[in-house]
Amino acid sequence: VENFDIEFPPQPSRRCRVFFGNGLFGRAAEYAAALSGESRIAVIADDRVAPLYGGDLLRHLQAARPKADLVTFPAGEGSKNWQVLGRLLQRMVELNIGRDGVVVALGGGVTGDLAGMAAALHCRGIAWLQLPTTTLAMADSAIGGKTAVNLGGAKNIAGAFHQPAAVFADLDTLSTLEARHFSAGLAEVVKTALITDAGLFARLESAQGALLDSSSSLLQQVLARCALLKAEVVARDELEAGERALLNAGHTIGHALESASGGQLLHGEAIAISLVLECRLAQKLCRFPGRDLQRLVALLQSLDLPTAVPAGAVPEDVMRFISADKKNRAGELRFALPEAIGRAVTTGCEWTVSVDPKDIIGMLRKE
Ligand SMILES: NC(=O)c1ccc[n+]([C@@H]2O[C@H](COP(=O)([O-])OP(=O)(O)OC[C@H]3O[C@@H](n4cnc5c(N)ncnc54)[C@H](O)[C@@H]3O)[C@@H](O)[C@H]2O)c1
Repeated sequence: VENFDIEFPPQPSRRCRVFFGNGLFGRAAEYAAALSGESRIAVIADDRVAPLYGGDLLRHLQAARPKADLVTFPAGEGSKNWQVLGRLLQRMVELNIGRDGVVVALGGGVTGDLAGMAAALHCRGIAWLQLPTTTLAMADSAIGGKTAVNLGGAKNIAGAFHQPAAVFADLDTLSTLEARHFSAGLAEVVKTALITDAGLFARLESAQGALLDSSSSLLQQVLARCALLKAEVVARDELEAGERALLNAGHTIGHALESASGGQLLHGEAIAISLVLECRLAQKLCRFPGRDLQRLVALLQSLDLPTAVPAGAVPEDVMRFISADKKNRAGELRFALPEAIGRAVTTGCEWTVSVDPKDIIGMLRKE
């Protein structure tokens, strides 16, 4: 088991414990039991993950003593909305989850974002744990305390920062994850390496097929490294006043492609395409080397990820979603761009670069 803590100065007592390993449900259950005392626990999972792992987790929780219930919702990005969130909150009231109750998010990024937001809102905020079960959630979304739902087609537009008390990434769960979702999550690993760590990027390139094997120790090391890199940034800039914006690399065009595709593209697939487009922008605006762009495309392809805008995508539609992105400042589009593999462009106290919409639309039209 690899583990580390994320501490949030100036209150180092506020910390999130992070564990990566195999067979972690027992440990997670003991942790949840200690956190909840005599209070109730709501395990939130989607209806694909619940039958696979919900029963096992409940058994461990019951053995560790507290009263736990499983609350489920339909799997998929389409559930990240107010209606589903409202039903989860309603269920938590019916279950008598009190102020010292605990939410356990068991699943991928959708479950983490929804359950985390339910934990942030219920009684104005109760403790919660994340048990990520996808590559995406382990490498990225379980870390950092961002929770949200989509609204009116805008991704993650309504949400809250609410740090989990702990994250238990049990790699055994990845054995049942569909290949397409498995690969999609690795796009976030590529993103983190591209923007912060050239050494990690080189390791990903030399890993060959090992990254697509859920039982490889390399996969665990890479996911944990990625989570740690994210945690370090989040600890320095929890509320995204500056540096944390770097982690949005690939996410402005990515969210727009994801929304415009109406569910055809998975989040990670949209991020993969967007990383390529944003590096092409960086090539134009910040002298990102052509050789590095080729390395990025080759790495994404070796992970079975898409690297080009789907034929059916309408540039103007995508642009509309980009203009509505919550990361824009005073109507200005700002992107976290790399200047080379492993290094982001940062100027003075700015972490992002202003981009002309004309350059983006040109890129989308493949001009
Ligand atoms: N909060 C953040 O910081 C953050 C960061 C990145 C992404 N996200 C969000 O994460 C979401 C994407 O996450 P995701 O890709 O994990 O999606 P997901 O939660 O929808 O999981 C993908 C699919 O795999 C299934 N699944 C999950 N674990 C499984 C397992 N172990 N075995 C079999 N099936 C399993 C799920 O039921 C679902 O159908 C997006 O909504 C994105 O916005 C959030």
